[in-house]
Amino acid sequence: MKAVEVKVLLKTLPKPRMLEFPGVTDTRGSLYFVEARNHVPFDIARVYYINDVPNGESRGWHAHKTLQQALVVLSGSFEVELNDGEQSFKFQLMKANQGLYLPPGYWRGINNFASGSVLLALTSAYYDPDDYIRDYDEYLAWRRQGQIGTGSLHAD
Ligand code: TYD
Repeated sequence: MKAVEVKVLLKTLPKPRMLEFPGVTDTRGSLYFVEARNHVPFDIARVYYINDVPNGESRGWHAHKTLQQALVVLSGSFEVELNDGEQSFKFQLMKANQGLYLPPGYWRGINNFASGSVLLALTSAYYDPDDYIRDYDEYLAWRRQGQIGTGSLHAD
């Protein structure tokens, strides 16, 4: 009997999910709020925002090794496309009380910005260029390394 090494692609990435933020609407308009560790599942270290995206442009085709984010549409709408190396998912953000929780590890892009859209990102860490993977082939290699479990199978 000889031992054969088995490599298994573990689908262990935490799942992205839509978040709903509390808000108060009255005759003066709407107010929404987001509390760290309460309405997003991390401590907020940094906020960035994106506006003035020209028609047809897309942003953010990269992955983060550790960063957690919540993407919020303050105005307009956009679509977030996620890829885990095997499958793609799309999320449409169009309501100011919605956010998309984005765990680390996904290849992601943002596109189909409606004219005048404003994207707010709440993030778990300061800007760190070393946390980025900006090349899709590199991302796939990283996924294979980082998410692979090895085991032994005994075969005759
Ligand atoms: P980039 O990653 O290209 O934006 P996107 O992911 O939306 O396509 O970032 C644009 C520039 O802004 C790049 O030079 C890095 C810089 N930047 C910071 O300095 N701090 C930040 O918090 C972020 C998000 C980007």
